[in-house]
Amino acid sequence: MSALIDRFGRKHTYLRISVTDRCNLRCLYCMPEEGMKFMDQDRLLTYSQIAEVARAAAGFGISKLRVTGGEPLVRPGLDELIAELKAIPGIDEISLTTNGILLAPQAAKLKAAGLDRVNVSLDTLDATRFKFIARRGDLGKVLEGVQAAAEAGLTPIKLNCVLLKGVNEDEIVRFLRLSMEQPLHVRFIEYMPIGHDDAGWRDHYLPLSRVLEEAAREGLAVEPAAEAPQGSGPSENFRIRGGAGTFGLIHPVSNHFCSNCNRLRLTAEGDLKPCLYWVDELSVRPALGSPDALNALFLRAMAIKPENHEMAALLAGEAQSHTPTERRMSQIGG
Ligand code: GTP
Ligand code: 5AD
Ligand code: SF4
Repeated sequence: MSALIDRFGRKHTYLRISVTDRCNLRCLYCMPEEGMKFMDQDRLLTYSQIAEVARAAAGFGISKLRVTGGEPLVRPGLDELIAELKAIPGIDEISLTTNGILLAPQAAKLKAAGLDRVNVSLDTLDATRFKFIARRGDLGKVLEGVQAAAEAGLTPIKLNCVLLKGVNEDEIVRFLRLSMEQPLHVRFIEYMPIGHDDAGWRDHYLPLSRVLEEAAREGLAVEPAAEAPQGSGPSENFRIRGGAGTFGLIHPVSNHFCSNCNRLRLTAEGDLKPCLYWVDELSVRPALGSPDALNALFLRAMAIKPENHEMAALLAGEAQSHTPTERRMSQIGG
């Protein structure tokens, strides 16, 4: 079968699969404190339906899968899905993005099912501040999860740190030092206004140029890290000379990486999203059971995929050309 190439010549090899919009945290950049109306459980794709879509994707040369949420580990039996996905010919890597709270007890089981690696959200190393950002849960559990993932061999482990002005910017150097001391890959991420352009975003957005400024102020020798764990995502990778680990910058707002976009998304309800940011989606439901119809859907996604998002226009107060999604991050899976 042909490769998935869109109108702008971008080849797609990476599918992000959300398995639930529910989450056991309420991070302030992702979900309102009171929670949201969650998808009806009977509207979620079953694991075998997800595998059917992934098989169609693999037929087009998709080789990397990432399982996301909400928080994917709140959905029971995730290891069964991992095993089913791992058995698909052509899939050579499966990774998971998690908040880490439920990871420790499941790490070994997930590894045994075929999970290759994890990216763990970790925005602060301070337990009190964790309560402020995540509003629930406990930093200790996340750190136990990271430790268990390392012991289970779910490596390389990446830590995702969303930088928030006035909240955790004073921890940049601490995270940079962590990347020197431990064989971890710390990724700083710009806060994106996905599904909301509100005062919270405008107040807390911080461009990632700040990370390199802080490193310079501290006298840390930053160099490009071509050998950093590449992954399939948009991170620009660096190391501090001599460090055990590396760090990365994911800067969708200040400097977008859409020209290299290689990914599609599947929501938990079964909508194929060509782009994280815009409203356009294609439901896979009517195509389930028909390989031809599923294939046609993937080709349609290529035909309608936009060139880029326009978050910078939003930041500058300019009009955008298209309709942004109303889904929050937890309803897409990052
Ligand atoms: P690796 O394969 O390990 O590089 O993973 P990844 O960076 O693709 O996945 P992860 O789930 O850890 O995502 C890290 C951050 O990058 C999250 O905030 C995502 O929302 C963001 N991200 C990933 N892909 C895109 C994209 O296509 N566009 C934008 N704007 N952000 C993205
Ligand atoms: N902006 C940037 N990153 C976000 N994430 C969730 N919401 C946002 C947002 N608004 C991150 C999470 C997780 C990853 C999937 O996306 O921290 O690590
Ligand atoms: Fe936090 Fe992720 Fe849950 Fe959102 S989905 S509240 S970012 S853990």
